[in-house]
Amino acid sequence: PSPNAYVRASETAAFVRSKLPQELQNPHVAIVCGSGLGGLVDTIEAEPKVELDYKTIPNFPQSTVQGHAGKFVFGQIGPQKTPVALLVGRAHFYEGHTMDLVTFATRVCKVLGVQTMIVTNAAGGLNQDYAVGDIVCLNDHLNLAGLVGVHPLRGPNIEELGVRFPPLSDAYDLDLRRRTHRAWKKLGLHQQKRRLHEGVYAFVGGPTYETRAECRMLRLLGADLVGMSTVPEIVVARHAGVRVLAFSLVTNSAVLEPGVRGDDAAIQSMSTTELDEHLSKGKANHLEVLEAGREAAKDMQALVKQILSDLHED
Ligand code: 6GU
Repeated sequence: PSPNAYVRASETAAFVRSKLPQELQNPHVAIVCGSGLGGLVDTIEAEPKVELDYKTIPNFPQSTVQGHAGKFVFGQIGPQKTPVALLVGRAHFYEGHTMDLVTFATRVCKVLGVQTMIVTNAAGGLNQDYAVGDIVCLNDHLNLAGLVGVHPLRGPNIEELGVRFPPLSDAYDLDLRRRTHRAWKKLGLHQQKRRLHEGVYAFVGGPTYETRAECRMLRLLGADLVGMSTVPEIVVARHAGVRVLAFSLVTNSAVLEPGVRGDDAAIQSMSTTELDEHLSKGKANHLEVLEAGREAAKDMQALVKQILSDLHED
């Protein structure tokens, strides 16, 4: 039988530690950088800094998305030199990885002693109040895959990591969310166009973007955002008692219309150009997702940095 995730994560953590100088061996915080958010590495001081390519790390899943190669970066952030571990690039379920592999890096972080994980992602906005480029601090999720059995904790419970039936009612740490809103104001970011929201993230398997009907369904279920990552990592982090803070960057508006029931009458009265416009409204595409990331990444970086220095103060 192959060794369980705890045994493999311990093996990997030992390898990683062997590559790190003393002052980087105990990262307090791990930061998972989503699509286009790899710029967070720039918040790390020049030295000491160690980058480990995922390719060179035993047991790590190998990424298949182009331009997502992936590396584990260790360094210090901010004036207090908070030791951090950055995961630049992540394994997605849609790539064909098992849930076990999708969440493996999270477990390695746990074994390395990480107490707080900040997870970021690019997501589609379902809440009509969200604009492209807005940032959402997650306060809950819908684990759609998990609810029907595709769940990272399925199988024998690994007692070294956590309990059999972990609660998730408090998964999104209230204290960290409070600090987030305070940091946003402290940085003066509330005076600009980009807004910071709180919202519910729906996890879907992907890789297709949702149909319009699926978007309406998710909205009806209470989701503000939809995306293809983050939730498995958060579930595994919470299982292991790691505090979690998560951000979504709204990179596009998931399309709810047309297709609403009752749409029919409106369509009858449209000119052909109006009809054309109406039928092709806002299709999700990968380029749009990458562009919004570049612009908002700087604010997200500043925000994370401010939260870290704030955390260090008490
Ligand atoms: Cl619209 N859907 C999903 N599932 N993931 C996304 C997205 C949409 N936009 C960015 N990531």
